[in-house]
Amino acid sequence: MSELQLATLIEEKALRERIRQIGASLTEKFRSESVVALCVLKGSFIFFSDLVRKIDLDLSCDFVGVSSYSGMQSSGNAKLTLDVSLPLKDKHVILVEDIVDTGYTMKFLCEHLSQKEPKSLTTVTLLHKPDAEKVKAQLDYVGFKIGNDFVVGYGLDYLGFYRHLPYVATISNLN
Ligand code: IMP
Ligand code: MG
Repeated sequence: MSELQLATLIEEKALRERIRQIGASLTEKFRSESVVALCVLKGSFIFFSDLVRKIDLDLSCDFVGVSSYSGMQSSGNAKLTLDVSLPLKDKHVILVEDIVDTGYTMKFLCEHLSQKEPKSLTTVTLLHKPDAEKVKAQLDYVGFKIGNDFVVGYGLDYLGFYRHLPYVATISNLN
């Protein structure tokens, strides 16, 4: 992947500050209630681990896996690859995604999780591409709205690469 040129889109400092704000806001929203934070694998693993450390609540973590992308295309048919293991019935659930592009994945996950009858479902996405929307998905907290360029870093990948970058970048020489 070394032939690809990256251009920083969101710097580490901006990510840190926005995540602190979202964490504080979720802490305020749920006050002294307990919540289940759900990480959507794989892309949100870094965002999730930074965000939960900014939420000061009685909190349990669980993981859900979904696949919908191949290379750079969102396929529109999301599939569950790993289901939640904690019971969600009557729990406040905070669903944490890396990015909402067409909206199919978020919509699919919300429908899937609603069947588990949580007390409430709050969605958080670090990034949102409003111009790429194909279906309306529930978006309660959005870190940053971005354009339609393919992005990598801070958990997001291109063919498995770049997830470890501490910032979000566009790839300037993709055709
Ligand atoms: P959606 O179903 O089209 O909204 O796509 C959501 C999923 O596609 C996200 O959870 C990501 O895993 C992946 N995705 C969407 N856009 C990008 C991108 O620009 N870079 C890397 N992954 C992306
Ligand atoms: Mg994702």
